[in-house]
Amino acid sequence: MARINDHYQKLRAGYLFPEIGRRVRAFAESHPDARIIRLGIGDVTEPLAPAITAAMHEAVDELARRETFKGYGPEQGYDFLLDAIREHDYRARGVELGRDEIFVSDGSKCDSGNIQELFDAGATMAVTDPVYPVYVDSNVMAGRTGAVDADGRYPGLVYLPTTPANGFSPTPPDAAVDVVYLCSPNNPTGAVMDRAALTRWVAWARERDAVIIFDAAYEAYITDPALPRSIYEIDGARECAIEVRSFSKRAGFTGVRCAFMVVPKALTGRTATGERVSINAMWSRRHTTKFNGASYVVQRGAAAVYTADGLAQTGAQVAFYMENARLLRDGLTDAGFRVHGGQHAPYLWIEAPAGVTSWDFFDRLLAEAHLVGTPGSGFGPAGEGFFRLSAFNSRANVEEAIARIRKAFAHR
Ligand code: MLT
Repeated sequence: MARINDHYQKLRAGYLFPEIGRRVRAFAESHPDARIIRLGIGDVTEPLAPAITAAMHEAVDELARRETFKGYGPEQGYDFLLDAIREHDYRARGVELGRDEIFVSDGSKCDSGNIQELFDAGATMAVTDPVYPVYVDSNVMAGRTGAVDADGRYPGLVYLPTTPANGFSPTPPDAAVDVVYLCSPNNPTGAVMDRAALTRWVAWARERDAVIIFDAAYEAYITDPALPRSIYEIDGARECAIEVRSFSKRAGFTGVRCAFMVVPKALTGRTATGERVSINAMWSRRHTTKFNGASYVVQRGAAAVYTADGLAQTGAQVAFYMENARLLRDGLTDAGFRVHGGQHAPYLWIEAPAGVTSWDFFDRLLAEAHLVGTPGSGFGPAGEGFFRLSAFNSRANVEEAIARIRKAFAHR
């Protein structure tokens, strides 16, 4: 008999988005005439930019010719993409990275879920609350936690609440922590960490010999040029931080799949006997063992993001979604809601009416306005009473969504 990994039994029933999908399908079946607007999962709606599709078409044609056909590529990514990333995402912001410090992959969900494999089964991981569920669930699967408690927390993890009281900016913990996951701009709260906050975290990690997994998948949505986009803009971060980046939201790649992770060569961890080892070398070993590289066509598409046309076209898409965010923010504020986020992130974090739970608000919005959002409690216990709306949709749907919310909550 095949014994299973019992830790999977500890996971809360379903991953958040499939559970939302289930409820929405049930509603749609019983209300076939309802025109449901989805502002739940953060999935892009604008088509790929022409510069990207042109590069991908050309790459497909290369694969169709014997002289230019390609089989397996380098697991870490093609040099043309690694160099474009180094130049535009890092050198332009004063950060010099080696090609061998960047690992191209097929998505940040996989990267942020897989990275925990490099750390001891007994390592203490810290997460913010609310949090992108992948950080928690991947550690539950790996056996780093006990069974979920009545509040929805897993013993063994250190939770760092982010609430209006601390401006949704987590504070470095006093508790002994080996690895912390930070996400900025934040999914789900839409908050962004400034230079002072990141500097505090880097100082904390260096003092504690801890590792920061810095998820910057939404960095393209930062509208204030003074805010850091990479944790490596902070001195000392190379010795303590891994950075997760994605093309999903910055260039519409949620269906195309391409991301990368930066693991600096200066970053080390300790063995059981106290010897220092390179985390870059470990990730390289893991990546080349379990991954055969992102597809050539996809990497050509990703590299096209950095051409002059690609930068202009994808920049316009990001600006389009951010205008949606502004409209939602203003519209919901006018309707009497307290709204957070949406200024440097495509997510708005809305306070549900007093006494209304996140899932009750979800059900009410679906029933009365035929709108789908994401219940804050699905991101962690401190998300209870909040609700996330995504700015990824057409302008017409966003405007219609605002009108419906105003109507449904007119009496507030
Ligand atoms: C979200 O809605 O939180 C995101 O789309 C999830 C993801 O990027 O995996």
